[in-house]
Amino acid sequence: MHIAGVMSGTSIDGIDVAICEIVPADPGTLTLRVLGYGEQPFPDGLRARIMGVLTDGQGALAELTGLQTALGQAFAGAVQQTVADLKLPAPDLVACHGQTIYHLTTGERGTWQMGNPAIIAAHTGATVVSDFRAADMARGGEGAPLVPYLDALLFHHPTLTRAVQNIGGIGNVTFLPAPGEPYAFDTGPGNMLIDQAARSLLGLPFDRDGAVASAGRIDEAFLEEILVHPYFHRAPPKSTGREMFGAAFGNELLTRAVARGLSPAETLATLTAVTAESIARGYRAFGPGRIDEIVVSGGGARNPTLLHLIAERLPASRLTRSDDLGLPSDAKEAVAFALLGYEAIHGRAGTLPRCTGASQPSITGSITPGANFRALMRQAMKSPSRNIEHVHLRP
Ligand SMILES: Nc1ncnc2c1ncn2[C@@H]1O[C@H](COP(=O)(O)OP(=O)(O)O)[C@@H](O)[C@H]1O
Ligand SMILES: [Mg+2]
Repeated sequence: MHIAGVMSGTSIDGIDVAICEIVPADPGTLTLRVLGYGEQPFPDGLRARIMGVLTDGQGALAELTGLQTALGQAFAGAVQQTVADLKLPAPDLVACHGQTIYHLTTGERGTWQMGNPAIIAAHTGATVVSDFRAADMARGGEGAPLVPYLDALLFHHPTLTRAVQNIGGIGNVTFLPAPGEPYAFDTGPGNMLIDQAARSLLGLPFDRDGAVASAGRIDEAFLEEILVHPYFHRAPPKSTGREMFGAAFGNELLTRAVARGLSPAETLATLTAVTAESIARGYRAFGPGRIDEIVVSGGGARNPTLLHLIAERLPASRLTRSDDLGLPSDAKEAVAFALLGYEAIHGRAGTLPRCTGASQPSITGSITPGANFRALMRQAMKSPSRNIEHVHLRP
């Protein structure tokens, strides 16, 4: 089965598409091959529209309805462009995370990932799995993080304790103790504050290769003030997003940085250190003890200044990128949703309650039938309901 995993994270930097082939092997085992992947830009003006809705937190109904359509079209287009670029056949299944517009983990609790799946099914002909987080929230979970399902099946090691750290807009870690059960949480801002400072102070979308931050001195006192934020001190399970660390929080920090007389380089160095330090302290406070290996992925894995600060703070752990274990770090999250979509249509649960805090595992996602629905379900229903225990990566 060919599955297109589609991910657009909190950075809103582009649409990641990973085309995966997943094949059942021995009982309880799958093999997964990443046939190719790509990042497609948002159509003109779409990023600004998403940011517009996110920033004031209350898009007008007409704008939200229009965005649901525009995002569905953008995701469908991204899948079509990626398979065309890679000269691959159209996928059987599209597993589309959608664009998170709001993630509410207190009060009435809910989460909203936009992008109309009916449009994706209509344009691609494929069956679509979307809305991955709702089922876990319905069972009392945070609805996040969901990537640990992939992390645990791919990266659990019999003797090495690993921390699998993704650094997107938000940072999230999956601890894989050897031996022991996996657990996970969002560590806090990943690239989000860095990106906002780069845009606001330098007019750049991000601090490429951490070049600006590497030239600045870290304001240690300011760093400590920022790390007082209660999110960092809350015990897992926990998840966060732009609601907490987005524009309002970033602007307040930038105002304080100016008041302290910090240069752009000093501001970026300090905000980069916030990400590194929150990861290191999160590991010390809530980690499984000794961590042999940290496996980094996401756009932050391309920032050597950030990686250096993390390595410096966690000297007992070996720092690697998921690429070193055979999974491209830029495609990891899209691959994770491809696997979750595959599991959904096979009727197998894809959430780990220890990671999300839910009362029980859930089959994740809503299914929107494509033109191939009957044939696809016939194929899927032949496979056993038994839980998957291993996923082998094939080059
Ligand atoms: N060469 C690079 N140097 C520094 N940072 C980078 C580089 N490439 C990507 N990034 C960072 O990674 C971010 C995108 O990461 P990504 O994993 O796509 O996050 P998300 O899942 O939130 O979309 C960019 O916004 C930028 O901050
Ligand atoms: Mg991205």
